[in-house]
Amino acid sequence: MTGTNPPFSTRILRYGSAAVAEAAAVIRAGGCVAVPTETVYGLAADATDSQAVAGIYAAKGRPSFNPLIVHVPDLDAARAIGVFDDAAQALAERFWPGPLTMVLPLRSDAAVASLVTAGLSSVAIRMPSHRAMQALLRESGVPLAAPSANASGSISPTRAEHVAKSLNGRIALILDDGPTPGGIESTIVAPSPVPRLLRPGPITAEEIGVLLNQPVGGAGDAIEAPGQLSSHYAPSKPVRLHAIDRRDGEWLIGYGDVAGDDTLSAAGDPVEAASRLFDALHRADAARAMAIAVAPIPETGIGAAINDRLRRAAHRG
Ligand code: TXA
Ligand code: MG
Repeated sequence: MTGTNPPFSTRILRYGSAAVAEAAAVIRAGGCVAVPTETVYGLAADATDSQAVAGIYAAKGRPSFNPLIVHVPDLDAARAIGVFDDAAQALAERFWPGPLTMVLPLRSDAAVASLVTAGLSSVAIRMPSHRAMQALLRESGVPLAAPSANASGSISPTRAEHVAKSLNGRIALILDDGPTPGGIESTIVAPSPVPRLLRPGPITAEEIGVLLNQPVGGAGDAIEAPGQLSSHYAPSKPVRLHAIDRRDGEWLIGYGDVAGDDTLSAAGDPVEAASRLFDALHRADAARAMAIAVAPIPETGIGAAINDRLRRAAHRG
């Protein structure tokens, strides 16, 4: 696809009302804009416009069988797209706006291009809290389909520079509002008929289970989100996990007591580690070392999502 793309010169605009107005104009004209959310930068386009959505797939080089998340400004907009039962309603009230995506039955009258759902009868919906994405949603007045703003298969972007490096010349505009606060993609849950975790994330299976008063099945024993290919987050170098020291030729990403060339959190704080994870992987990828090693991260809380992404980063082939 690379050779057939128009030669955009990618502009980076600092967040502000003029930048949001310009970004919304690009969206309304059927283009894509990279925009930060509380998790990672997304590549947004009008979810109701199939040509605009096709532009996302083209810019990312993403397989079109991999459906996209629809971002909405409020619950009314979400209800116009997905069918909410009591469990979905309870999750929305507790965790929205925020880093939770729900996979719900697609309403038959939903104004969403079928390319967004890759023809599935379900739809992934999320109400983000980040001011830039909220402003873009309100100013453009349409639901926004947005995957992470990176070339398909590479590391998710947590800074405008990551987006520029991965998609330079392939998109028209990046709205830059600094590093994203969360750093790891949203939790994906299918609330009904029984709650299933399709992708671990900042909101844990335990929190969801407590709210719904039901255990949450893991992705392993259910149908996974189709995009969860095992090598999804791969850097270009081999990655060794659970490293407690640096071997020859490695760049070591530390955590807690394991000091390295870089650290996810010297204090051993998993939330800090999540916010730094992708930036650390981007830096490790750009370093001269031939290989990457990463210190052990405890599996508790958001640690489960960090380890999920690290396993995918380490998986070859
Ligand atoms: O934090 C996030 O969720 C970021 C920001 C930009 O919102 N977005 C993101 O999108 O991570 P993406 O496209 O990289 O991941 C979306 C995942 C994919 O694995 C996709 O397969 C899954 O959601 N998905 C989308 N629609 C689905 C559906 N109807 N059923 C199951 N999985 C679905
Ligand atoms: Mg992604």
